[in-house]
Amino acid sequence: MTAPVLEIHLSDSDAADALHRDVRIGLSADPKWLPPKWFYDARGSELFEQITMLPEYYPTRTERELLRRSAEEIADRIVVQGAVVDTLVELGSGSSEKTRLLLDALIANGSLRRFVPLDVSESALRGAMVAVAREYPGLAVHGVVGDFTQHLELLPAGQGGRRLVAFLGGTIGNLLPAERAGFVTALRAVLDPGELLLLGAGLVTDPAVMVPAYDDGAGVTAEFNRNVLRVLNRELGADFEVDVFDHVAVWDATHEWIEMRLRARRAMTVRLPRVGMTVHYAEGEEMRTEVSGKFRREGLGAELADAGFADHAWWTDPDDRFALVLAAAA
Ligand code: SAH
Ligand code: AVI
Repeated sequence: MTAPVLEIHLSDSDAADALHRDVRIGLSADPKWLPPKWFYDARGSELFEQITMLPEYYPTRTERELLRRSAEEIADRIVVQGAVVDTLVELGSGSSEKTRLLLDALIANGSLRRFVPLDVSESALRGAMVAVAREYPGLAVHGVVGDFTQHLELLPAGQGGRRLVAFLGGTIGNLLPAERAGFVTALRAVLDPGELLLLGAGLVTDPAVMVPAYDDGAGVTAEFNRNVLRVLNRELGADFEVDVFDHVAVWDATHEWIEMRLRARRAMTVRLPRVGMTVHYAEGEEMRTEVSGKFRREGLGAELADAGFADHAWWTDPDDRFALVLAAAA
């Protein structure tokens, strides 16, 4: 087994600068908002793993089942297209738990040599790398601590063969539409023609199914949501009274996304000394902490095509709640 390699493109000071910038912009906006990537410190990544096991949270188990059923077909389709994939890149890889199904299928087809997970969460990344390296001794593991909205051009190239970039879990839906368009375009720009994208995306389905997935009975998602305030308290010396914020999850039918918010139960003044801000919350004020976009096949297909991804192949579950799409850089 070769020792795993860890590359850090997001130093502590880069991350601090980015957090300061995001907080200055988001908390001076009306309504206030924060980008969801700040959920994922070690505790947030752990809470997300707990979410994936909740009965209400269908996306992870639906995508896992899709991969279980279709990973071989995906790997075969890549071979039929004449692509020799030697590197699997995974963006926002987290625990890479479902990714094993893809690794198994690509290894069985003979050409995979290297796994490159990329995540902002160093703790999640390290945990996944150690486990994958142990379970797949023949595979080189090259982790990257980075931001997929900024560091795509730093991804290692294929080693003579092509790369398959997996972006699973529906994380694409956590980008706002303009960010998403920028991301898909930037991803296409760093790929060579014939390199591949495997995208997992939540589909628009019944709000009676979607909303409970983001508002579970055990309150794990509420803790995950409030975790962003704990991150701000620790990283910025802020004094948010975390438990005075209620978790809110609503289906926004216009934008076709689930929106998570934190609602101040009473009026509050919060100091954030490391960014030199004092922020007021009115009683009942809501701050957006995440959007989780759900897609329709035509819309997502058009976005991929517009960015220069062709040859789309789709796999969906029997209830049409989640899709995997394989596409090639044209
Ligand atoms: N792919 C896994 C994890 C999804 S959770 C799954 O399907 O279960 C979302 C992951 O994306 C987290 O691990 C989080 O740390 C990471 N993430 C969020 N925003 C990111 C960004 N801008 N750049 C890189 N990673 C990001
Ligand atoms: C990572 N991402 C796809 C999750 C989602 O479903 O949007 C994050 C999450 N937020 C609340 N629950 C899970």
